[in-house]
Amino acid sequence: MGHTEERTFIAIKPDAVIRGLTSTIIKRFEDKGYKIIGLKMLMVSKEQAAQHYAEHFGKPFYDRLIKYIQSGPIVAMVLQGYNVIKGARQLMGATDPAEAQVGTIRADFAQLKEYNSVHGSDCPESAAREIAIYFKPEELCTNWKNMTELVTEKEDLE
Ligand code: RTP
Ligand code: MG
Repeated sequence: MGHTEERTFIAIKPDAVIRGLTSTIIKRFEDKGYKIIGLKMLMVSKEQAAQHYAEHFGKPFYDRLIKYIQSGPIVAMVLQGYNVIKGARQLMGATDPAEAQVGTIRADFAQLKEYNSVHGSDCPESAAREIAIYFKPEELCTNWKNMTELVTEKEDLE
């Protein structure tokens, strides 16, 4: 069976950046072996916020969500790895930190659904769309190998 690498868009949301959790959260993803191919801190613009959360437009929590994502800097990341879209969301835990499994980022570092510390793409189409909102193609560092790639290369997964 072949294994294909995927990419996902992750954001450390303002509540977590403000509390100094940036390095701790990045480490959860790095420890899993995912490769960081894009990384930057930025203030989300009105336009980026509206594009990012277009699927939630009109919902009762939309205005608060837009205000929250612009309430301070985010740390935006593109991760690459095997099943990284699903795997990153497993590391993040359920949307509502009260429902998230202990050991996940949201269970360990957040209390409320409205301030849940991280974002992760939910499918390949969302990932491609969200990466394009925050990164230009030339901002991604794709031409290097991390340990996971070096190890799986030797094991010959195909
Ligand atoms: P995300 O997009 O941030 O990774 O989270 P998710 O897929 O687990 O959840 P989603 O349904 O896409 O919701 C996006 C973000 O909106 C806020 N939210 N608030 N008050 C509410 O009922 C509510 N529901 C969602 C959360 O910040 C959620 O992460
Ligand atoms: Mg979502």
